[in-house]
Parts: sequence; C-alpha cells; structure tokens
Amino acid sequence: RSRIAVLASGRGSNLQAIVDAIAAGSLHAEVVAVLSDKPDASALAKVPPERRWAQSPKAYVDRAAFDAALGDALAGFAPDWVVCAGYMRILGEAFVQRFSGRLINIHPSLLPLYKGLHTHARALEAGDAEAGASVHFVVPELDAGTVLAQARVPVLPGDTDEALAQRVLVVEHPLLIASLQWLVAGRVAEREGRLEVDGNPLFSPLRL
Ligand code: GAR
Repeated sequence: RSRIAVLASGRGSNLQAIVDAIAAGSLHAEVVAVLSDKPDASALAKVPPERRWAQSPKAYVDRAAFDAALGDALAGFAPDWVVCAGYMRILGEAFVQRFSGRLINIHPSLLPLYKGLHTHARALEAGDAEAGASVHFVVPELDAGTVLAQARVPVLPGDTDEALAQRVLVVEHPLLIASLQWLVAGRVAEREGRLEVDGNPLFSPLRL
C-alpha cells in the first residue's frame, strides 16, 4: 500500500475523498499523515492524533525555517506521495526540491489559466464558458508544474463564486482519486518535466 501524506489548510473535503476511496477499496493506499499550517484546520481531525502535524508559521523566523520543519516532519512519515489538498501556503524551492517527483497539488482552475488565488472569480469575470480543476506535479514556480489530469464543469448563468466553487469541488474529488490511482499503480512517470503514462508520452492532461 502506498503511503500518502496530505498537506491541508482547511476543510479537508479532498482529504475526506481520499480516506473514503481507501475505505471503499478503490485506492490501494494509506493516509500516513496530515500536515497543516493551520493548527485549527478541520482536515486534521480526519486522521488519528499520531498522524497529525500542525504548526503556525508565525512560530518560525521565516518561510525557510517553517518549510524545513514541515519537511522534516513530513519525511518522518516516509510518504511515497505528498498531496497538497487545499494547502494555501506557498512552498519554498528547497521544500519542493526535497519532495520533487512525489509532490502533487489539486488546483481549482483549468491550468494554465488562473494560477494562484480567486480562480472562480477570475473565471466568471473573464466570461469563461467552462471552469474546472487540475492535478499537477508541484514545481517551485506557483501552480506551474506539469498537469496530469483535469476535470471540467460548465459555468452557468447567474453563477456566483461560491456556486461555481461548489460545482468544481464536486469534480475535484473523483479527479484527485483517479489521479492517485494512476500514481500509486506506478503508471505515471515524470521525466524532465514531461509526463509518461504506461511508458508513453502524455501530450495533454488526462480528462475526467
Ligand atoms: C479546493 O477547492 C482546492 O482545489 C483548493 O482549495 C479547496 C480545498 O478544499 N486549493 C487551492 O485553492 C490551492 N491553491 P478542501 O479543503 O475541502 O479539500
């Protein structure tokens, strides 16, 4: 069983989807740790106390010091895969390099559109007909790593940020699980910033 560690800052519905998929037998893995920059994040309660690590960055002198502590804690759980699922703090380059190749993120936009925050508001403002979510490998540049898979939803008349966010969230969960199924089965490899699936180059993201 693959060892999955999850970084989360909030609610943890994507983490819950992982926990549920494992319990249902559809994801051959184990959530070995949940780590957070928010000691009160509800995501933490989804695993037993010995699998939790949470610290406020305010307790550290700078980003590098926080990242080093996070990285040391993470390494202690010996994860095969590290999933950023609603982790809202930028990860520094040293951290990203340390876990490179096994660090993925789920982002609520159709990357390369709308890196960073307020993705849904920006999609609405642009008048986009579709929105969605992407699962990508993490690189030091924000939300810029190779995209493994995407799921799309329509933008509907009268949509608010919240309504669109909720519609996207519904497809995030199966998107993340499908991505993890491919990863833990060893079907995906990243070489020099390009993805291969079953040994063949992936020219565009998998579609859910
Ligand atoms: C999800 O929509 C995720 O895509 C987004 O935060 C939400 C977390 O929900 N992530 C980002 O915006 C990362 N920049 P969850 O805590 O219920 O999984």
